[in-house]
Amino acid sequence: MNNFISVHDVTDINALVQKALAYKADPLKDKLLGANKRLGLLFLNPSLRTRLSTQVAAANLGMEAIVFNVDKEGWTLEFEEGAIMSGNTVEHIKDAAPILGSYFNVLCIRTFPSLKNREDDYSELFISQFIKYCGVPVISLESATLHPLQSLTDIITIQEVMAKEELKQKKAKPKIVLTWAPHVKPLPQCVANSFAQWINAWGEADFVITHPEDYELAEQFSKGATITHDQDEALKDADFVYVKNWSTYNDYGKIYENDPAWMLTEEKLKLTNQAKVMHCLPVRRNVELSDEVLDSASSVVTRQASNRVWAAQAVLSEILKAKQ
Ligand code: CP
Repeated sequence: MNNFISVHDVTDINALVQKALAYKADPLKDKLLGANKRLGLLFLNPSLRTRLSTQVAAANLGMEAIVFNVDKEGWTLEFEEGAIMSGNTVEHIKDAAPILGSYFNVLCIRTFPSLKNREDDYSELFISQFIKYCGVPVISLESATLHPLQSLTDIITIQEVMAKEELKQKKAKPKIVLTWAPHVKPLPQCVANSFAQWINAWGEADFVITHPEDYELAEQFSKGATITHDQDEALKDADFVYVKNWSTYNDYGKIYENDPAWMLTEEKLKLTNQAKVMHCLPVRRNVELSDEVLDSASSVVTRQASNRVWAAQAVLSEILKAKQ
């Protein structure tokens, strides 16, 4: 593995999941793999889980991690080629990225979308320019359209639940439902896009996406899933329910609908096969997901978030081994 930007950087999803679970069983088994190596974590947007889990993962591999909050402490970066920098941007990525590449062996970057211009966001200009100019392996900590470390974690958690036989009914293929949820502000499509991309690529689930009308995700990610506007129908016999809000893709970055009836409740969960409930966090309680569900035995959100460490450790390990 050279970069980790999407599922396309992974040759064998199940092997990567097993690697992550092996680190969970024995976190320090490769404690010298990253010795004398430095990891740079650049944040253009806030984070709790991604930032800390990646730092812990690096420490488990003996690697030094340095965090730079670019949005608060750095110069405002320009990403457009040929830009006349007479506005607010101070430093071009063409100048900054090679310097960062000379300080670090591996770089990680979080760059959220603007949600203003779909073509710009979906071109993934920021992370592409960063990869083009930094000269070292790059790991996405969530980009304009995808969140691959989250999605790897999600599949790790699903496989862990299945391996421990925590589902009511053993099935060859679990039914996994990605359901839209209400929110108070427009959110990126990244987590939903990425989850859809990974579950479709994994190919070992009966995968359903449910959302209100006009909340279609980009087909490049959702194609392969069954898509329905009937949430109750989607939830029937589900083994996993992944709850997430996203803003509109077609008329980009809008909130069209915020019907609280889309919030997952204990009553709705009765339609499922005693499904495990997932969410990437942070979650707006009693807007996206009810207290009763989040605080019940159905919820695996804390385990899911703690598994972020093992996903990051498996990816860092792959990249370090490829460079040996
Ligand atoms: N799920 C997730 O990426 O969390 P943070 O935004 O806190 O990193």
